[in-house]
Amino acid sequence: MKKILMAGVMLLALTALLARAQMPFGSVAEQEYGRALWNALQSANLVGENHIMAWPYEGNAPHGDKLVTLESEITLNGQRGTVLVKHNYGPDVTLEQVSNDPGAYLVATTVMFKREGYSAANQDWFFAKYLADATYDVAPDGATPLVGSPTGCVTCHSNAPGEDMVFLNNKY
Ligand code: HEC
Repeated sequence: MKKILMAGVMLLALTALLARAQMPFGSVAEQEYGRALWNALQSANLVGENHIMAWPYEGNAPHGDKLVTLESEITLNGQRGTVLVKHNYGPDVTLEQVSNDPGAYLVATTVMFKREGYSAANQDWFFAKYLADATYDVAPDGATPLVGSPTGCVTCHSNAPGEDMVFLNNKY
């Protein structure tokens, strides 16, 4: 009886571990936070129709063909923090076309918000990728929303110079 119980406990622990390994991001809480983040970005005019625009530049994979990166600060749930917003445009457009009509070519918006106390392993960066209609893009499994600490974002951004997970500069 004891052995069966032990086996049961181990199986449960294993299932929990596997579940964690398969879904380290995109939890309901992270999705809700990501929605609040989008709303805060919209209020700050950093996303949405008529968002603040800057000169687009030539991008590289995995970010879009043409990019605009904005750096600012927002307050979310009473926490003030840096936010980096990257608008990804494409696929086959000129810088001028993007500049003239950004809304027509927006493919996705990737965001990093410095959320104090969120995750020491991520240096508190909360990641999210929104499609042009503001819904979440999903992981290669076709279902898990890219919000929170998506493995792809975290793995690649861990290689950014300055060990701050940011490529743009080394201030953080
Ligand atoms: C394979 C590497 C790679 C992956 C995966 C990746 N990025 Fe990036 N990211 C970069 C590089 C390189 C830059 C800087 C160059 C540029 O402007 O594209 C960048 C820039 C950014 C920036 C502007 C701040 C900065 O670091 O310069 C944000 C915001 C961002 N990425 C968000 C994301 C999010 C969210 C994801 C996941 C959905 C993601 N990235 C996945 C490589 C990656």
